[in-house]
Amino acid sequence: MADFLVSPNIESFTNFKPRLRLGIMASGVGTNLEALCQATKSNILQADIQVLIVNNPDCPAIEKALKYHIPYKVLDHRLFQKREHYDQQIIKELDSYDIEILVMAGWMRVVTSTLINHYNNRIVNIHPSLLPSFPGVNAIEQALEAKVKISGCTVHIVNEKVDSGPILVQSAVPISNQDDKRTLAPRIQKQEHKTLPIGVAIAGKRWRESNQG
Ligand code: GRF
Repeated sequence: MADFLVSPNIESFTNFKPRLRLGIMASGVGTNLEALCQATKSNILQADIQVLIVNNPDCPAIEKALKYHIPYKVLDHRLFQKREHYDQQIIKELDSYDIEILVMAGWMRVVTSTLINHYNNRIVNIHPSLLPSFPGVNAIEQALEAKVKISGCTVHIVNEKVDSGPILVQSAVPISNQDDKRTLAPRIQKQEHKTLPIGVAIAGKRWRESNQG
C-alpha cells in the first residue's frame, strides 16, 4: 500500500488574493520550512513567508531562511524566565509583520495561551503521527512500539492541549514489519512536506472567510 494524502483538491484552497501572509516558527533542521518556501515560490500556495522565528541560535532552519531570503529572528527561550514572557516577545516580533497564519514547522516548545489567544485559530502545527494517536514527543517511536500498521502525519490548529487541536489534513503512511525509525521517519517526513502547505492553505481560507466584512 502506498503512502497517501487525505485531502480535498488543493487548488480550491491555495488561491489567495492578496497572497496569504505567513509567520513561521522552527527549532530544528527546517525541512518543513523549506517545503513551505518551495510551495510559496512555485505558487502552489499563494502565500509569502514574512518572517521566521527560531528559538535556538544554532538551528539549521536559519540556513533555509538565508537561502530563501526570509527575514529571521533568533529568540533564545533560555533568556526568558517565564514561558508567557517569551510568548509575549514572539508576539511583539510578529505583530510588525501583520501575519495571518502562524506555522509551527518543527517548533519544539510548548506555547502558552498568551500566544494561542493572540492568534486564535490561526496557529498551525505539523505532527508526525495520525492524531489523536501518539501525541507528544517521540511520536514515530510510539507508533512503532504500538505495532500499528498505519501511521502518518497530521496538520492541525494549535489549542491549549498539546497536539490536540482541530485537525485540518492528514497523510497516511503504512508500516511494514521490517520498518524501524530509520526507514519510517523519512517516509513520514516526505508526506509532511506535501501535507503542511495544504493544512496552511485550509487554515488561511478559513481565516479569510471568518475575517470578511
Ligand atoms: C517534523 O517531523 C515535525 O513533525 C515535528 O518536527 C519535525 C521538524 O522537522 N513537529 P524539520 O525541522 O521541519 O525538518
